[in-house]
Amino acid sequence: MTTTYSNTTSRYVTIIILPYSIKIRARKEESILSALRKSGITIDALCGGRGLCGKCRIRIVKGETNSPTSNEVRILGDLIKNGWRLACQVMPKSDLEVEVPSFKGQILDWAPKMKFPLDPAITLIPIENIRREPPSNLDTLLKELKTLGITNVHISLQAIKNLVLLSRMGIQGNIVYNRDYNEIIDIKTDEACYGLAIDLGTTTIVISLVNLRNGVILDTISEYNGQITYGRDIISRIGYAMTARDGLLRLHRAMLETINKLLVTIFKKNNVEERAVYEVAAAGNTVMSLLFLGLPPHNLGSAPFEPPFLGGYTITNDRIGLKINPDAKIHLLPVLGGYVGGDVVGDIISSGMLNDEVALLIDLGTNGEVVLKKAEIIYVTSCAAGPAFEGVGISSGMMAIEGAIERIRLKEELEPEYSVIGGGRARGICGSGLIDILAEMVRHSIIDKQGRIKEVDNPRIRRNKKGSLEFVIEWKEATAVGKDIVVTQQDVRQLQLAKAAIKTAYKILLNKTNTRAEELKAVYVAGGFGNFLNKENALLVGLVPKVDISKVKFIGNGSLAGARMFLLSRKVRSRVRELLKNVIHISLHEEPNFRRLFIESLFFE
Ligand code: FES
Repeated sequence: MTTTYSNTTSRYVTIIILPYSIKIRARKEESILSALRKSGITIDALCGGRGLCGKCRIRIVKGETNSPTSNEVRILGDLIKNGWRLACQVMPKSDLEVEVPSFKGQILDWAPKMKFPLDPAITLIPIENIRREPPSNLDTLLKELKTLGITNVHISLQAIKNLVLLSRMGIQGNIVYNRDYNEIIDIKTDEACYGLAIDLGTTTIVISLVNLRNGVILDTISEYNGQITYGRDIISRIGYAMTARDGLLRLHRAMLETINKLLVTIFKKNNVEERAVYEVAAAGNTVMSLLFLGLPPHNLGSAPFEPPFLGGYTITNDRIGLKINPDAKIHLLPVLGGYVGGDVVGDIISSGMLNDEVALLIDLGTNGEVVLKKAEIIYVTSCAAGPAFEGVGISSGMMAIEGAIERIRLKEELEPEYSVIGGGRARGICGSGLIDILAEMVRHSIIDKQGRIKEVDNPRIRRNKKGSLEFVIEWKEATAVGKDIVVTQQDVRQLQLAKAAIKTAYKILLNKTNTRAEELKAVYVAGGFGNFLNKENALLVGLVPKVDISKVKFIGNGSLAGARMFLLSRKVRSRVRELLKNVIHISLHEEPNFRRLFIESLFFE
């Protein structure tokens, strides 16, 4: 049952979302569903918040709320006694602690909200009456634009076409104007004006559809990057691009096909016309950015690993072919050097680390990247962490979607207690669950310091058909896939290699800059998988340096959040241009003690 632990006369309350301890603010008279949405946390709400579907279940752990509504009583029955409520029906009366069972389907998109000015490059200019006057439609329009201070403007063919059609009818309309390029992209009667933020992940592509008029994120969806069939990691994709016939073209097309498939879905779901999407900001590592543009990543296949260009790149969609307006500009967030691409820029701007004196950022994507900010200088590096923490190449690994074990702990007798995204039976285990189980296996001495699984006398530890040891998390009878969910010795090795790569990278940056871990004001952890990372477990396995646990902050999908900020704010764009002047790129392969540190980092302490 709910109990009061804080009372306040303020109109606002703080809600702590468990088990991730994310703090959000809410108005007392607004539903928790609305507060969650405003904070970028999306949960299932099939009936749109009318209290009919019962999908938006949450549990009030602490705090005072309104009494259950009749719909809640009907749908939840006795569950109400244990604190279960419907997020769309419950309103806070005091600070709350709320358990949100899952951010179903939105896992890869979660990121804390950073405040930034809404100031997109694309803007709508209403025109009162599109007239036909001599000497031409265009001259009439240009004269009108001149009165608004817009001169020497470029006008797209589509805009001229629409101008002709609309002026015959003499009706009101809107000009879609790109302020950064002094370009009229479209002329139309409606006000629909959208943009896309895209995370070009090596393993997963994530797309947010954003309303450019008010900055609201309408929807976010994700899918495995279609390139995955040509190689799981960046190195194998570079190899494929360099050696396979039409390899580069295939990789380019595979990525575009994934994006376009997602666009068809997201537009249909949100009733958005593809031509109403006028700008895109995309963030990816260097190789993904190059492959998106169809450029050869060959330089990154061997030392000195120099990308073909540094900084950002903008291209008009008619040269790429996304299913959006052909005149839309697509901006790739800047490449900082070698394997450090726009995804890291996204992390840097969305984390807020630019405001810290000394801070570390770790992106646990397929390619791990580490950033150290000290005074005004931003040191960046990357390491080949591989996709293990994204569930790829792990026996029971999977993406952080419905059916994935996202958290797990081992009780007495090594009995697992876990939670599954979306509830229901488990299909596999995702990155955050893998870190949990790795840490739990260390904690319970199931694996030794070298990472070897011990032959402990317990039914959950057994030898598999290949003769190697494995730990059974769930027996097949209780899974959704009809086979045991396991962690094998080979899986532990993969995870060990990934964590050693990350640990080596942050150790080298700290050593090179004479920075002690205690000096760090914050350690930001980014990654599509890392949203629900258990901080203690991340510390225990060595994924983050030994700092006070309160300094470890998750920024979720920082790459996507940064792309959104870039899309929506010209001020953010100019801040990004500024930060490029203060970046120092460190190549790990040139570090003399790299090998020694890597081997040391493989062990568990
Ligand atoms: S959204 Fe359907 S019951 Fe809350």
